[in-house]
Amino acid sequence: MSVIILDFKGQYCQLIARRVRELGVFSKILPGDATLEEIKAENPSAIILTGGPDSVYEQDAIHPDKDLFTLKIPMLGICYGAQLMSYMLGGVVQKADPSEAEYGKAVATYKDSPLFDGLESGVVWMSHMDYIDKLPEGFKPIATTKNCATAAIADENRKFYATQFHPEVNNTEHQKEIFKNFLFKIANITPDWNSDNFIDKAIEDIKSQIGDGYAILGLSGGVDSSVAAALVAKAIGERLTCIFVDHGLLRMNEAEEVEKVFKEKFNVKFIKVDAKDRFLSKLKGVTEPEKKRKIIGEEFIRVFEDAKKDCTNAKFLVQGTIYPDVVESGLKKGDVIKSHHNVGGLPEDVDFELVEPLRMLFKDEVRSAGKILGLPENMVMRHPFPGPGLAIRIIGEITEEKLDILRRVDKIYIDMLHEKNLYNEIWQAFAVLPDIKTVGVQGDRRTYSYMCALRAVRTKDAMTAESYPFTWEFLDEAQRRIINAVPEVNRVVYDITSKPPGTIEWE
Ligand code: XMP
Repeated sequence: MSVIILDFKGQYCQLIARRVRELGVFSKILPGDATLEEIKAENPSAIILTGGPDSVYEQDAIHPDKDLFTLKIPMLGICYGAQLMSYMLGGVVQKADPSEAEYGKAVATYKDSPLFDGLESGVVWMSHMDYIDKLPEGFKPIATTKNCATAAIADENRKFYATQFHPEVNNTEHQKEIFKNFLFKIANITPDWNSDNFIDKAIEDIKSQIGDGYAILGLSGGVDSSVAAALVAKAIGERLTCIFVDHGLLRMNEAEEVEKVFKEKFNVKFIKVDAKDRFLSKLKGVTEPEKKRKIIGEEFIRVFEDAKKDCTNAKFLVQGTIYPDVVESGLKKGDVIKSHHNVGGLPEDVDFELVEPLRMLFKDEVRSAGKILGLPENMVMRHPFPGPGLAIRIIGEITEEKLDILRRVDKIYIDMLHEKNLYNEIWQAFAVLPDIKTVGVQGDRRTYSYMCALRAVRTKDAMTAESYPFTWEFLDEAQRRIINAVPEVNRVVYDITSKPPGTIEWE
């Protein structure tokens, strides 16, 4: 059983999809103007219309198929989706008087309705300029706020529900109950989506796509490509060849760990290409960040092409594309290779058929599938790591010496995060080695050594981020442990910059 989410370019679209899946129901996002045939092809048990920046009465506002409401499928419209439902069913939507537009928290009083079963009132998150002035026939108000007599409305006979507020955001109280009521009490859905049955289905799909053919996969050691590899390995075993390019810019023990896991646990062909010298010689003397990135991207392609010559029988290329990549690339059909992929650069003109087994999964679903497939915890819970690796965390020229220093600093810092149970609270953390030496004093002697920086961020999507508010004690202990263990470093700073204006990485 599944739910279709029609996306009207609302900022919380993916959040709605997550909320539904968290309750064990598969959800799929389609563009707001998907045709009726496209929607029917998914055989949805319910449809959710998202919010969006348009006003329903504007000429170029996105509207769904005009016959959407004849499908006899339970529907929940949220914000713009609520206004759209009212407008298309004959109600009147007006621009609110600026003094009455609602942004932020409001308290809703709920009436007796299946959508709010068990609830009397609660804080809700409002963000709208327009309001429903006249209800369509058959509708009645089921929630009110101080400024809005139609905070939620419903035609309970047709199972059409609409909320001006956003039940999907954390600022709304009882969000889980509201979605549960809609999915289970109104749409009568039986939850049947979980990582176990996803894995069985994905293995079946991979088997039927690849048949008795051969596939290759560029393994980066990151979560997505590792889980994709584990899944395809289960489906086709040693007909999968994983190519792992060690560009010499990885973290401590990373290459060895990836090799060990895939050689010992999975029945795949594993090619590790030791390309350290190739990369480091190309990067010699290079200090400009974009030039570093271009050299690494280009070299990666060359190394990968050389390695894949050993797999001439492979007709399939496995990619660890995940659902947010698909949604962010505009839900376009027939995407070939996404521009930002997790192995840091693959040929654009590869003559392969793509296999993307994680295409429908969110990151946390990928992680839980990885655990079930037997990947170690430290691999599936790992923070994101950029394709160019430590090259963009060493400011200035990259040398073996600096890589070695940075690896040791980073390990102490990351181990500390695990030790203090902070690792999973933080979206991404790492150390940086700026091209700076400073004067210090240790054991009564003058030192002139490197300064390192620590970075830790919280974010939802890496588009914006804020630095993690460590306690003073944590930072103090980190600086002591790093300076004591890494003699080449005599100063530690913590980067408190948010994004924007900074970026997460330093280069
Ligand atoms: P920035 O530094 O742009 O990074 O704020 C946002 C997120 O993207 C990661 N990142 C990359 N990932 N290849 C990748 O696979 C890259 O070239 C790359 N550059 C940045 C970064 O680590 C952060 O998670």
